[in-house]
Amino acid sequence: MTTTNSILFKPSKIANTAINNRLAVAPMTRVSAESDGKVGPLMKGYYENYATGGFGLIITEGLYTDELHSQAYLNQPGIATSAQADSWKPIIAAVHLKGAVLIAQLMHGGALSQYNHLSKPSIAPSAVQPKGKQMPAYHGEGAYKLPQAMTEQDIEVAVQGFVDAALRAEKAGFAGVEIHGANGYLLDQFLTEYTNQREDSYGGSLANRLRIYQQILTAVRESVGEALIVGVRFSQKKVNDTQYVWAGGEEAAKSTFAMIKECGADYIHTTEPLLNNAAFGEGESLASLAKKYSGLPVIANGGVSDPQLATDVLESGQADFVALGKIALSNQDWPNTVKNSNSIKGFNYSMLAPLVDLENAQRFNKDELGAA
Ligand SMILES: Cc1cc2nc3c(=O)[nH]c(=O)nc-3n(C[C@H](O)[C@H](O)[C@H](O)COP(=O)(O)O)c2cc1C
Repeated sequence: MTTTNSILFKPSKIANTAINNRLAVAPMTRVSAESDGKVGPLMKGYYENYATGGFGLIITEGLYTDELHSQAYLNQPGIATSAQADSWKPIIAAVHLKGAVLIAQLMHGGALSQYNHLSKPSIAPSAVQPKGKQMPAYHGEGAYKLPQAMTEQDIEVAVQGFVDAALRAEKAGFAGVEIHGANGYLLDQFLTEYTNQREDSYGGSLANRLRIYQQILTAVRESVGEALIVGVRFSQKKVNDTQYVWAGGEEAAKSTFAMIKECGADYIHTTEPLLNNAAFGEGESLASLAKKYSGLPVIANGGVSDPQLATDVLESGQADFVALGKIALSNQDWPNTVKNSNSIKGFNYSMLAPLVDLENAQRFNKDELGAA
């Protein structure tokens, strides 16, 4: 069924960067960095495997942006210092040598911060207790901390944190940056009505709730060179709220995606539980709406394991690239596996338990091999 002529393997581009095929690795936090935020010993092999396995595009796990409040997890890698950024150089070189494009995801945890090596309190648009519980697989326990409401100056500092992080990513040699605007973290806390109760120019209307995205994207685009890809990720669901749907429906999607295009972003990455499901009960998927209202290249993510679904999404024009998360964890060579018509290994949650780190995955893989 799927052959090398498949749309999955057709080269494409984001801005001026050529990408070998339509298959991306979704950003996945693996809490396997050193305690100072530099990359840990297992990370190079891990990222290199995806490139060897045939993925054209690899988006890193979320890297924290500043040495203030942005860190979300113990052993999360950062890009808040030059030393942290430079520690990625061997990974960047290895991945690029294999022909894949590596993009750094820039992330501020906001109210969902479970750990900060400087013992800073968490900050958020408003002092609202986050829903749900911290995630044990990422070293968390119990309720989230009550965040401090950000002052306008805190917002300026956080925006600048993204800009400086993007500059460090560029200098280290990443092909691009993805601003993490999804999954309930800081930017998504601004976008979401119930976590943003501000009465200033960052709260209230959709345009106000999107202001921080606009400021970050515009400032990053102005600060980095033209060749650096600048993308942004959106979701409706959050790690601590899997039911949330954008209140403004398609109209909100239209304004959001059109604004993103105006800021000079090069692509939009959407994630939904199932990438091609209607975003608002009926009608088009979030990916499809992003494409329609921005005209930008779109990466769609969520729920893909078999090549047919990925092919359908690309052929129907809903997206230009498909990003794989969990199935890529169990098949780091998913593109080559599909190309060679080999069978895809099912994803097993035990791989991420008790921790989502790479040491645990290695142990799991050894046990699997032993059992085989
Ligand atoms: C272990 C793990 C870590 C993740 N970390 C991140 C992250 O750092 N940034 C992000 O945007 N999404 C993160 N995600 C979400 C994935 O990028 C993806 O959206 C999600 O797994 C759904 O796609 P899938 O159905 O292909 O797995 C993570 C998911 C997993 C399983």
